[in-house]
Amino acid sequence: MAQRRRIKTDYGPYKYAAFHLLLARWLRHYALDTSYRYVTLGGTELRDVQSIYFIEPGLASRAMSLENDHERYKLGEATAERVRNVGLMVETVEQDFFDFERDGDEPHLFFLDLEGICALADYHLRFAEMFRKAALRERDAIFITSHLGHNPGWKRIFSAFDAEFRILGLVDPANKRTWYRLAHPSFTLFRALSHANLQDEIALSCFGCVEYRDKSPMALYGYVVEEGTTPFPTFVRNTPHFHVNNGYA
Ligand SMILES: C[S@@+](CC[C@H](N)C(=O)[O-])C[C@H]1O[C@@H](n2cnc3c(N)ncnc32)[C@H](O)[C@@H]1O
Repeated sequence: MAQRRRIKTDYGPYKYAAFHLLLARWLRHYALDTSYRYVTLGGTELRDVQSIYFIEPGLASRAMSLENDHERYKLGEATAERVRNVGLMVETVEQDFFDFERDGDEPHLFFLDLEGICALADYHLRFAEMFRKAALRERDAIFITSHLGHNPGWKRIFSAFDAEFRILGLVDPANKRTWYRLAHPSFTLFRALSHANLQDEIALSCFGCVEYRDKSPMALYGYVVEEGTTPFPTFVRNTPHFHVNNGYA
């Protein structure tokens, strides 16, 4: 029987524990003393936008939620109407995240809150385009959610990221699996930088990989974008790791 498509985007508490841990780390160590524009995939419930607004209304006063699914966009619009009662003026736009265009010079905090895997498809090309047109640029930060289960099979992953594993000096399959979990969106972002030929102009740092369990194993990754260079092994190896359900264990 065909599976019914889930329209409403609602998730368990661990997702938001991961989001708030990473947000706290960013705010304490990396956020600049200025106002940001918040650009997210808020889905139908805009839960992350509401959190951001509670923490810092100023940050969410320039909040935009992008949605490429028409049904979800309509529900997101209805949620936006409801939260206007508390003063949260979030803008909901039916558009693909990667087509985002800036209209101001303030730094941006992006949340690419994916349900799937941030690797292997054409994400590196889409990010390369964002870097090239400076839609994602120095002084920005980006959070990315990626799915850790149902991968397309380790054989395919080992072969797709053979170059990355070689540069990292990883031979043992268990080590490869560990670093794939900790860093596959970093592999994607580094490929994007290389594709745009910007790896000697932009410094990417990963300030956290926070794993959590929702309906499946997931992780949230946080990055800051600065001027400088991105040496791939250091970029990947310096990833701080935490597990919402297990802590450091
Ligand atoms: C995980 S849900 C968002 C949940 C939301 N952040 C929350 O915490 O309430 C991700 C949403 O982004 C949409 N989406 C996925 N990829 C997208 C893209 N490239 N551009 C725009 N929307 C996208 C999905 O349809 C889905 O509604």
